[in-house]
Amino acid sequence: MPHNPWQQRKIVIVGAGSVGATFAFALAQTGDFEEIVIVDSNQALSEGQVLDLAQGFCFMPTTKMRAGGIEDYADADVIVITAGSKQRPDESRLNLLKRNQKIMCSIADDIKSQDPKGVILVVSNPVDILTKVVLERTGLPANRVFGSGTVLDSARLRYYLADRMKVDIHNVHAYVLGEHGDSEFTAWSIASIGCIDIDQYSLTEPLTQAEKASITENVQRSAYKIIEAKGSTYFAIGMALVKIVSAIIKDKKSLLTVSRLITGQHGIDDVCISLPCIVSKDGAQLMPNIHLSTEEQQQLVESANILKEQYATLQV
Ligand code: LAC
Repeated sequence: MPHNPWQQRKIVIVGAGSVGATFAFALAQTGDFEEIVIVDSNQALSEGQVLDLAQGFCFMPTTKMRAGGIEDYADADVIVITAGSKQRPDESRLNLLKRNQKIMCSIADDIKSQDPKGVILVVSNPVDILTKVVLERTGLPANRVFGSGTVLDSARLRYYLADRMKVDIHNVHAYVLGEHGDSEFTAWSIASIGCIDIDQYSLTEPLTQAEKASITENVQRSAYKIIEAKGSTYFAIGMALVKIVSAIIKDKKSLLTVSRLITGQHGIDDVCISLPCIVSKDGAQLMPNIHLSTEEQQQLVESANILKEQYATLQV
């Protein structure tokens, strides 16, 4: 998707709820896109979100924002799908599948009808399965349809590790892989603090196995904990989405654990799941030669099998 710098960089956010609106707010502060369009079946809600945001134009670089419709999909550089029901307290993301598959099929069909030229990022949960739904329904190439996956979970992991290791979070390179959900896992074998393997980092006590397990559980339980306290999550996911779409529109070639179709790598086929990818103007390309430990490889296969079983229950 060659971007002509003289064209308006346009993004369409599908879903004017808390995630979509928070993402729009965070994105508008960056100036990465000249035009932000919010689309929602509830037109009044999308117009209300746009009005509330647009009245802050004098405080931010973005000055073109409007409520739109499916016709906006055609020339969008990026389409981000946040629409759908959200988790209730103690509800798993997989349990949302029954409520969200129908809306996702409808959105995917609308997108296909407009013959889009851009990249499609799925956020709605269960994101790995709904990403595959959109990929199958639109028939677009796998690099151009992917999900936010465990980008947020990897950020949560870095938050906990920076605190424990007493180091700048920007020097923590650690990744959560697999399902964005209960079967996700931490790839400790590829975690590092800057150029130092995390198990060799000696300025603090080395992480014990018990601490590693506790940190992984804190990451896995983060959404449940936040939902219990305030009803839903939206700030960190909104910022994670800015990171992803900025990598696309600025062709940054960022390494991010987005949810992408796997076609044989790691012995896994025909499932959208999070592994390290390079995200650029061409969408998501799987990072080759990621060497996982035997245990991590097994966890990846188990997570993929859970997602494939869930996907098989759908009539896409
Ligand atoms: C969360 C949502 C985005 O993990 O699934 O907060």
